[in-house]
Amino acid sequence: PLVSMKEMLIKAKEGKYAVGQFNINNLEFTQAILQAAEEEKSPVILGVSEGAGKYMGGFVAVVHMVKGLMESYNITVPVAIHLDHGSSFEKCKEAVDAGFTSVMIDASHKPFEENVEITKKVVEYAHSKGVSVEAELGIVGGQEDDVVGQGIIYADPQECKQLAELTGIDCLAPALGSVHGPYKGEPKLGFKEMEEISNLTGLPLVLHGGTGIPTKDIQRAISLGTAKINVNTENQIAMTKVVREILENDPKLYDPRKYLGPGREAIKQTVIGKIREFGSSNKA
Ligand code: G3H
Ligand code: ZN
Repeated sequence: PLVSMKEMLIKAKEGKYAVGQFNINNLEFTQAILQAAEEEKSPVILGVSEGAGKYMGGFVAVVHMVKGLMESYNITVPVAIHLDHGSSFEKCKEAVDAGFTSVMIDASHKPFEENVEITKKVVEYAHSKGVSVEAELGIVGGQEDDVVGQGIIYADPQECKQLAELTGIDCLAPALGSVHGPYKGEPKLGFKEMEEISNLTGLPLVLHGGTGIPTKDIQRAISLGTAKINVNTENQIAMTKVVREILENDPKLYDPRKYLGPGREAIKQTVIGKIREFGSSNKA
């Protein structure tokens, strides 16, 4: 069923595993991720960035595509459709009104008071419709669509506590050294702060920039209260690698199903691997 993130993340934090947010870019991503989650009997979060939403034809089209596939595939595991890095109250409202079951308001680049104010407004609206809310503090490095991190800034634990108390969010993404896109060298995650923020807020924590984080760091993050891990780039790389190989080997090929089909399979295998790594198999 289509559900909010609220319960699945509370369960994950208690059970010491993480639910994957896998971003969708098109039909094949959505098919692959839904099938992977169903086969693994795992809850799953479909992440939709504003850019990807626009690419797929808008939030309404996304919701109908996801619902249609869930019906055709007889999906039984809990699925959330989540706006990734929502840039304003208006965008979050648009997603909620289209049928998204969860939204992230990312006002992390704004002054703290403004972040609190916008996030609170989103929570009021979203919660009135049964939709969960994620907020962010600090700056995630790298770039994803239009979201550019101007140098990494670690979230401040006291601000996290205040934001949680003042807004009533369901989960929190404290930037603690992670990066969107590939890492240059090993990530340096702020585990001390992660533990502190988890204890101070009591909230399930979210780790952005899941691509390229070593398994030992994933496990440590989960043990310290991380209950949601976002992955996008790794699936894009997996799909594109296969498509590139196929097209290079067969320059006469023109049926898109002949390269997108194998690309879709590559995403599915990548997602299955992540689900197992995050420990959410058989938690549906
Ligand atoms: O919001 C989405 C994620 O944080 C994705 O990060 O592309 O580095 O896996 P990634
Ligand atoms: Zn992110």
